[in-house]
Amino acid sequence: MPTASNDPSPAPDHPANRPPTPLTGRRVRAAIVGIGAIGGGSHLPALAQLAEEGETEVVAAVDIDADAVKRFCAEHGIPHGYTDPDRMLAEQRPDLVSICTPPTLHRDQTIAALRAGAWVWCEKPPVPTLADFDAVEAEEGTETGGPYASIVFQHRFGSGSRHVRRLIAERTLGRPLVAHCQTTWYRDTAYYAVPWRGRWHTEGGGPAMGHGIHQMDLLLDLLGPWSEVRAMAGRLVHDVETEDVSTALVRFENGALATVVNSVLSPHEVSRIRIDCERATVELTHLYGHSNANWSITPAPATPDADAAAWRDFGADVPSSHLAQLRELVASMRAGQRPRSSGADGRTSLELIAALYKSAFTDTTVRRGEIGPGDPYYTAMHGGAPGWAPVPAQASAGTSEEIPA
Ligand SMILES: NC(=O)c1ccc[n+]([C@@H]2O[C@H](COP(=O)([O-])OP(=O)(O)OC[C@H]3O[C@@H](n4cnc5c(N)ncnc54)[C@H](O)[C@@H]3O)[C@@H](O)[C@H]2O)c1
Repeated sequence: MPTASNDPSPAPDHPANRPPTPLTGRRVRAAIVGIGAIGGGSHLPALAQLAEEGETEVVAAVDIDADAVKRFCAEHGIPHGYTDPDRMLAEQRPDLVSICTPPTLHRDQTIAALRAGAWVWCEKPPVPTLADFDAVEAEEGTETGGPYASIVFQHRFGSGSRHVRRLIAERTLGRPLVAHCQTTWYRDTAYYAVPWRGRWHTEGGGPAMGHGIHQMDLLLDLLGPWSEVRAMAGRLVHDVETEDVSTALVRFENGALATVVNSVLSPHEVSRIRIDCERATVELTHLYGHSNANWSITPAPATPDADAAAWRDFGADVPSSHLAQLRELVASMRAGQRPRSSGADGRTSLELIAALYKSAFTDTTVRRGEIGPGDPYYTAMHGGAPGWAPVPAQASAGTSEEIPA
């Protein structure tokens, strides 16, 4: 099994230097980078299902844990295992790379895959900052029909979100007016005892970034662009650098007003979206994924029964899942079209989170589009804010001369 990471550059006739071959009439050759919980538990099964349907084949897996990747490949019949993603890209030339590593690695691994001509399906949170996101987007093949980098936001996919997105977009339920978006989860002290948890550098943020991003992303997918946000953040329980709870008021371009709560302090755990439109209230209540049964639609008084029945017809049940998103991604690859959840469409929740932090830490209203190059929240979610940004002693692993007096 190839595992070395310091081989010389590939020779001119090496596969790395050949142009990508068209996908017509053949399977998409996929590789998984990071074979931990989500790589092994969600990406592999989704790729395996599409392999059964003749769409994909998993040609390689990569992890820094050489023994683990060897076992993983043997167990799942994956022909090539690596400890070095760059070597895998050079030797295997995959069409698609699943990035399932910790968030701080996403930027460089995604860029390397795009430069090798592979499309990328990168786990959330996409990258730690908006600057990182823009650096990734700049590497996409926008002039050439790919490759593109799509972010894993599986809650947007499936029959429930598709049906409700259409009802709202077509104004079937009237104007959307009021919304609630809730990620109220519970994480105990043991969860935060792991040294990389609760740190800006390793996690990119607290529950707004690591936990609530899925529901906020879905809210934005359903309601469209937001325009301004006012937020508060607290560090109420855990010994962390980041927040452990935040609340925000968000105004949407369509006029709707939303409250957004992201918490890891809530014993009764729930993920929830509620949207009150002129003609009906739409509610989604679940924890980590949803099917048609998790949605409800309550019509306003005097709504004709036939209308209510039509709104409540979600069609064949397709649960939200990695598989549902991957199906669309592979179809986009075959069509040479930008996939959903990439580019501006994949950036929306990251921008809302940057704005949420900026608003909370500066006690101001933040408008969409205002965080760009030169803004401290463009290059760090904590924005260098006193009381929130890592103090130098923590940031530099405790060099004694940097400990503040
Ligand atoms: N979409 C979802 O619902 C969902 C759920 C859980 C986690 N995630 C995301 O998936 C990502 C991974 O989370 P996880 O829970 O699987 O973590 P994990 O720790 O279980 O797995 C990460 C894997 O990456 C490997 N790795 C670390 N550095 C590497 C490197 N340089 N090259 C190759 N492999 C390397 C590790 O050895 C490990 O096997 C995170 O971004 C996380 O937020 C998404």
